[in-house]
Amino acid sequence: MERTVRDWSLALDPASALNLPAQIAAGVRRDVGAGTLRPGEPMPSSRALAQTLGVSRGTVEAAYDQLVAEGYLLSRPRSGMLVNPRLRATVPAPREGAGQSRAEDPAPGTDLDLVPGHDSNSPLVDPAWRSAWRRAADTERLPDQRTIDPTGDPVLRRAVAEHLRLMRGLLVDPAQVVVTAGSREGLALLLAGLVADGRSGPLRVGVEDPGFPGLRRTLARLGVATVPLPVDGSGLVVPTADDVPGVVLVTPNHQYPYGSAMPATRRTELLDWASTTGTLVVEDDYDSEFRYVGSPPPALYGLSPGAPVVHLATFSAVLSRDVGTGYLLLPESLVGPVTRIRQDLGCPVAPILQRAVAHYLDDGGLRRRLQRSRRRLAATHRLVAEVLERIPGAVDQGRMLVVERPPEVAAAVLAGCAERGLLLGDLADGWSGTPHSTGVVLGYGAVDEAPLARGLTILEDVLATTPDPVAPTHRRSDIPETL
Ligand SMILES: Cc1ncc(COP(=O)(O)O)c(C=O)c1O
Repeated sequence: MERTVRDWSLALDPASALNLPAQIAAGVRRDVGAGTLRPGEPMPSSRALAQTLGVSRGTVEAAYDQLVAEGYLLSRPRSGMLVNPRLRATVPAPREGAGQSRAEDPAPGTDLDLVPGHDSNSPLVDPAWRSAWRRAADTERLPDQRTIDPTGDPVLRRAVAEHLRLMRGLLVDPAQVVVTAGSREGLALLLAGLVADGRSGPLRVGVEDPGFPGLRRTLARLGVATVPLPVDGSGLVVPTADDVPGVVLVTPNHQYPYGSAMPATRRTELLDWASTTGTLVVEDDYDSEFRYVGSPPPALYGLSPGAPVVHLATFSAVLSRDVGTGYLLLPESLVGPVTRIRQDLGCPVAPILQRAVAHYLDDGGLRRRLQRSRRRLAATHRLVAEVLERIPGAVDQGRMLVVERPPEVAAAVLAGCAERGLLLGDLADGWSGTPHSTGVVLGYGAVDEAPLARGLTILEDVLATTPDPVAPTHRRSDIPETL
């Protein structure tokens, strides 16, 4: 049932230095920030709210106008005013006990979340997964919590090593695999391990610019300084400056957001540079298995024995974000420091979940799911290819559709799509500082054809009806020259 104005209270203060519209606007901002007003929720009409608060309708309208201009509220032609559904990404999660939904709960009226990364949230409805869970839950004796291996269940670490052998042609020792709760947690653990390892001076991490905002934000949360590094059509440009960061984070197989794969020559150049400068390369290998044509390029990890590379992987893309599991593949020198961190902090992935994932891998569930995903991706890719011809400035990068538009057009398209229940990523978020390209990003890695077709129709409609002062024919940023 939709909430009504009775759910929302606002005490106006006659003694306040703020005038009434400003007080109402401040009240809405505060309650949106606190999660009391949730993204996508309908606001009371200006008439109803004016009555409740005992003020004139014009007072409420002035407050609403201000909040629409600030992006807190959206005015929908027939359904009136509502809290902007896109605020979902920026509103802090409500505090525990506040009786609110989690920040990730779909907001009412928002039924298609194609923000890159979120699209992988397809449920794991799969008999193999159910059976893996049953086995883990019913028939296993899981290790005693006191003797549990802090680097992860040995059964899962062996399964991951086998998965890497079959899928990526990598021969790895399970002792170098550390189970994580996904890429972001893996990166945080690695950095803690590097600090414990006594790397000299404060840590600085080179990041692709543009790059995946999720991992850049993880670094910022940890107080780690980032150094934006340029990207071209071959991926990360190998730095030449003497002032090198101690660590670089790179997506060699599928650069985010433009999708390039780093050619062999660039890979060798990067590894040579890393060895010479003593830089640790962290390879974010988030979706290699997901390719629907050909086999993935070799991992940097196995390319040059002895090169300082960490392989950062997640099951979010290939399995589901619901699983919240990933792993790190470490060089021998880092196994000790990372293990000691895990010994003290524990492993955040529940043993039973680790065992279920291990069974799923061992029983071939993941392999079959990947085959299905690849078939689906080939079909959804065709759908995207059709739309591409009609949208100038659009690039299909394999699992994401990038549409470049000037900043104000991009903001209007994001808001217009959100109004129609479609959430998209903001291309500007990929940039560390001032964005060199702006627009919208639609992730379609794990979406079925029907919802994707619906999302693409909404996007096309909104693009067609959003005024764009610059004709977008062939307009592209200067970044992915060779894509
Ligand atoms: C470049 C990149 N790295 C990593 C991830 C996955 O991160 P996590 O496992 O923390 O959800 C994604 C998800 O979309 C991604 O796009």
